[in-house]
Amino acid sequence: MELVQQVQQAFAEHYQQQGEFTFRAPGRVNLIGEHTDYNDGFVLPCAINYDTVVVARRRDDAGNDKRVRVLALDYQQQVDEFELTFPLAKHPQYQWANYVRGVANSLMQKGFNLVGCDLAISGNVPQGVGLSSSASLEVALGLTYSTLAGVELSSRDNALNGQHAENNFVGCNCGIMDQLISAQGKVAHALLIDCRSLDSTPVSVPTDMAVMIINSNVKRGLVDSEYNTRRRQCEEAATIFGVKALRDVSWTTFAAKQGELDPLVAKRARHVITENGRTELAAKALAAHDIKLLSRLMAESHLSMKHDFEITVPAIDALVEMIGNTLGDTGGVRMTGGGFGGCVVALVPQGRVDEIRALVERQYPLQTGLNAGIFVCTASQGAEQILA
Ligand code: GLA
Repeated sequence: MELVQQVQQAFAEHYQQQGEFTFRAPGRVNLIGEHTDYNDGFVLPCAINYDTVVVARRRDDAGNDKRVRVLALDYQQQVDEFELTFPLAKHPQYQWANYVRGVANSLMQKGFNLVGCDLAISGNVPQGVGLSSSASLEVALGLTYSTLAGVELSSRDNALNGQHAENNFVGCNCGIMDQLISAQGKVAHALLIDCRSLDSTPVSVPTDMAVMIINSNVKRGLVDSEYNTRRRQCEEAATIFGVKALRDVSWTTFAAKQGELDPLVAKRARHVITENGRTELAAKALAAHDIKLLSRLMAESHLSMKHDFEITVPAIDALVEMIGNTLGDTGGVRMTGGGFGGCVVALVPQGRVDEIRALVERQYPLQTGLNAGIFVCTASQGAEQILA
């Protein structure tokens, strides 16, 4: 059964009523532009065909019009219940519930008058592997709460609200990329997002290229603390350059002044500054179907993450090397997402997908003792209400 039908059916069984509304929001894969979003820079992600789905019904029982009940299908049918009064408290136990509470809390903080509801939630975005299952949950919930309350929430504000909830309620200091692409993704396109203005330009993904995601299955550790350390180092560099964010530092300025930076901070800054340049160029290469250039840019991006930003791990490097060696300049490959495990993204000619799959299935366990998860994705539409 399709995910949407599963959640609708589970809703009906649990609450003994049909759901009234269904919403979906996708996960994402970033083609290039890593750790640039919180430096006001550029990213080039696409939404993927894996979603979080929320089925909802407004409560019309007197006296309970501010009550929210939630059923989490992916967490052994765990439930949460809370009143929509600001400020909300964190759930004592369930992390998933903090997304549900956090998104409502941020909306209420902005003055939205939310209405009580019953919700059922499930998703097929692989969790904890850097494909933004949390952002997809936040964005799906923003759409749910605002629609139920009958208020207009633009896709941009929905993304910002999700990020606000994640930063302030859940406690992870992420940038805006994941929520924005989940809210605004476009079928068959990646989006070049300017993370300062939040404007985005769709860039079509060539139909003869597949977007392959290879999950290293390396358990991600230290992600949050390392992420926050990288953010601080970037901010420190920006302060020394006397600018708002590293986005404002050109390569020439960096080259002239890098000696004034602590060597480690200089490496972090060099990654961000070069990655911004690569991302803008990669968008042009993708639009022009210049796979050779794209291949080079993705390879350079990976090396920059490995040596300058130091966020890759050996198993991820092994995947990138084996796929890169085989693809040559017919496609591109690099680590995608926050780092320290997670996934590799590869742009692969459609005719070579099986070859790459076989290569990874054969070589990866031999080299690392791990098995990889392989997804062939299509660039998908951002969050929406599902009618029917
Ligand atoms: C995580 C964050 C994003 C972004 C990436 C790295 O996915 O949530 O905001 O910073 O890492 O590019």
